[in-house]
This record gives sequence, C-alpha cells and structure tokens, in this order.
Amino acid sequence: MSKVFVDLGISLDGFIAGPNGGPTNPLGDGGLGIHAWMFAQQAFRDHLQLGPGGETGADNRYVEALFARTGASILGKRMFEEGERSWPEEAPFRTPVFVLTREVRTPWERKGGTTFFFVNDGIQSALRQARHAAGARDVRISGGARTVGQYLDAGLVDELSQSVAPILLGGGVRLFDAVDHRAVAFDLVETIASPAITHLRYAVRRPTS
Ligand SMILES: NC(=O)c1ccc[n+]([C@@H]2O[C@H](COP(=O)([O-])OP(=O)(O)OC[C@H]3O[C@@H](n4cnc5c(N)ncnc54)[C@H](OP(=O)(O)O)[C@@H]3O)[C@@H](O)[C@H]2O)c1
Repeated sequence: MSKVFVDLGISLDGFIAGPNGGPTNPLGDGGLGIHAWMFAQQAFRDHLQLGPGGETGADNRYVEALFARTGASILGKRMFEEGERSWPEEAPFRTPVFVLTREVRTPWERKGGTTFFFVNDGIQSALRQARHAAGARDVRISGGARTVGQYLDAGLVDELSQSVAPILLGGGVRLFDAVDHRAVAFDLVETIASPAITHLRYAVRRPTS
C-alpha cells in the first residue's frame, strides 16, 4: 500500500521559510539556506538538469530515494505561487501535482512530466486524485505549513521527515503553529546526520490517551 508522507526542510529555530516570503522572495529572507545541502547533491542536480557534478554520499542517497518514491505531490497555493515564478520550465516534480486553492484554473502542463492540477474541493479530494495518479508510488504532501497542517490534523499522514539545517532564520513560517498538538504523535524511525543536515524520519499516528 502506498504511503502519504511529508518531507520538509527546517531551520534549527523551527521555520520552514524565512520572513517576508512571497512570489518574488521564495522561501523568505534567508530561507534558501534550509535547502543548501540539497542543492549540492548529484541527484538534485540531475533532477533539475543543472549539469554534472555534486556530492554522492548519504545525503545524495536520501535525495535519490525521495524522488524515486514520489508518484504525485500536493501543494498549497502559497508554495505554488513561489514556484510558479522560480521553478525552471521543466518543473522539479516530473509527476502530477495537485494544488489546493480556491482559484479555479485549468491544468498547467510543463515540459518533463509535471502537470499542475488545481483542486477546489478540499484535501480529501486532492488526496484521492493524487493517490490515483501515484499508482504504487507514494504521495508527498510538499507544503507549505497550512497544507501539511490540514493533512496532519485529519490523520491522513503516515510519515513525516524533517531535514534540520544548522541555521537560524529568526522568524517566518512555522510548521506546527496551525496543528492541533493533541491530534498527532510521532515515533522516530530513522536518523541520518551529516555536518550539513540532520534528517529525522517519524511515523505519524494518533496519540494514545
Ligand atoms: N522548507 C520547506 O521544505 C518548504 C516546503 C514547502 C513550502 N515551504 C514554504 O512554505 C510557505 C508557504 O506555506 P503556507 O503555510 O503559508 O501556505 P501553503 O500551505 O503553501 O498555501 C496555503 C494556501 O493554499 C490554499 N489552500 C490551502 N488549503 C486549502 C483548502 N483546503 N482549500 C482551498 N484552498 C486551500 C489557500 O490559498 P488560496 O485561498 O489563495 O487559494 C491557502 O491560503 C512558502 O514560503 C514556502 O516556501 C517550505
């Protein structure tokens, strides 16, 4: 059975984006630093066709596995609006992507296998469509915080990974602000650490009272 998972980068002080984020400032002030480790990996460079080179160690294997398992993604409109301006023409998904939004819009097909579908009838509908599109592969809830929060609250996430970057952002978008802390519990299942980044993978479940 395919899984529903979250995999986010986060700063040491707990922000998934810095302050003042928006379409002209993706990930907010300093926020790109969260993903600096990833931009250095061979698998990421290949995926975005950035040319040869890149690291090939444990962090690279982490990125390879992430791309390999993802059959479809779900995004919120704020994340999409940032990427719409900054992703290359061959957007970095290469799968169907379902964007939660109130905006009614026809699908947007990009070169290289990414098509964005705009979903107006809620998180369950987006997940149903994403599961169908993903087939045997997993569905990634890509972000941002308000999108991930709704899926966590609804008990629809099987696994959550945070890649903790050793930087401080001082403000911005927090992941768990909108989450009902009584609705979810986490069991640590894997830790992979390098000087650049610490990957923490948790199984997500309902708390036992
Ligand atoms: N560090 C990381 O790994 C990472 C990953 C992803 C994103 N991010 C960052 O996260 C930030 C965005 O997060 P965010 O929490 O502000 O926003 P978000 O979750 O990306 O988008 C929220 C918006 O999506 C639409 N939406 C969400 N749920 C909906 C629903 N059930 N029905 C209809 N529309 C719905 C609404 O937009 P409309 O009402 O306008 O349609 C809502 O305002 C960005 O700065 C991005 O860079 C970071």
